[in-house]
Amino acid sequence: MSELDGMSSLANLLSKPAADVSGKRVLITGGASGIGAASALVLAKRGAKVLIADLAQDKGQKMLEIASEQKLTLHFCRVDVADLASVKQLFAEAMQVLGGLDVVINNAGIDHKPAPLHELSDEDFDRNIAVNLKGVWHCMRAAIACMAQSGGHVINVASVAGLRSSPMISAYSAAKHGVMGLTKSAAVEYARIGLRFNAVCPSFIDTPMVQNTLAQMDERGQKAIIKASPLKRLGKVEEVAGAIAWLCSDESSFMNGHAFTIDGGMLA
Ligand SMILES: NC(=O)c1ccc[n+]([C@@H]2O[C@H](COP(=O)([O-])OP(=O)(O)OC[C@H]3O[C@@H](n4cnc5c(N)ncnc54)[C@H](O)[C@@H]3O)[C@@H](O)[C@H]2O)c1
Repeated sequence: MSELDGMSSLANLLSKPAADVSGKRVLITGGASGIGAASALVLAKRGAKVLIADLAQDKGQKMLEIASEQKLTLHFCRVDVADLASVKQLFAEAMQVLGGLDVVINNAGIDHKPAPLHELSDEDFDRNIAVNLKGVWHCMRAAIACMAQSGGHVINVASVAGLRSSPMISAYSAAKHGVMGLTKSAAVEYARIGLRFNAVCPSFIDTPMVQNTLAQMDERGQKAIIKASPLKRLGKVEEVAGAIAWLCSDESSFMNGHAFTIDGGMLA
C-alpha cells in the first residue's frame, strides 16, 4: 500500500499540473488592459474559459486579436462597472457564454490626478468611489447571485493603497480600503455556501495606469515611486498575472478573506 493512499487529496494534487485552471470559467473586469489583460491571456493559455469585460470597446477588440494571434480564445463584453444595469447584463451574458462561473476577478479600476486631499475635486472623488468601490460591490452582488448554488471564488484587485497611507491619492486609497472591507466581510458571510473572497494588493505595476500617473509627476516623484519597493523597480504585469492565476486554481482553496500583497516587499 502506498503512503499516499490515506492522503487522497494530496494524491489528487500530485496527479494534476501545477496551479491547474483548465476548464475554469473566469470573468475578468477591466480585462482589456494592464493587469487584467495579462491575467486573461495567462489564464486562457492555461486552459481556462475567459470572458473579459471592459468599458473600452476598442481595447477589448484589440485583445481578441492578440488572443487569436496566440491561438487562444477570449470572449469580450462591454461593461461600465459603475452602472448596475450594465453589470447585470454582463453577468447574464457571462453565464450564457461560459455556461456558468467559477471565478470572478473584479479588476476594473481608475486612478485620479495626484493632489493633496483638500484640493481633490468632487468629480474625481465621486468617480473613484463609483468605479473602484461601488463597481466592485455591483460585481460582487452579481457574482454571489450567479455562484450561490455552485460555489466559486471572487478575487478583488485592491492595492497596497487599500492597506496603508497613500499620500496624494486619498480618494483612490479610500476606495481600495473599502474594497478590503467588502472582501473580508463577504469572506465571512458566504463561506458557508462555498463562496470565497480574496483580494490582490499590488504596489506600483508597470501598466498604462501607472505610466499615466508617472507622466503627471516631476522627476523626484517618479523616482520615489520606482524606489518605493525594496526591489527598486516597478512590478511587471506578468508578476501579478501569475499570482492571480494561482489564486484561480484549487491550490488556493483554504485562502479566504486574505489580502495577497504583490509589492516587492514594500509593506514588509
Ligand atoms: N498598476 C498598478 O500599479 C496598480 C497597483 C495596485 C492596484 N492596481 C489596480 O489594478 C487594477 C488594474 O489596473 P491597471 O494598472 O492594469 O490599469 P489599466 O488602466 O491598464 O486597466 C484598467 C482597465 O479598467 C477599465 N475600466 C476603467 N473604468 C471602467 C469601468 N467603469 N467599467 C469597466 N472597465 C473599466 C479600463 O478601460 C482599463 O482597460 C485596478 O483596479 C487598479 O486600481 C493597479
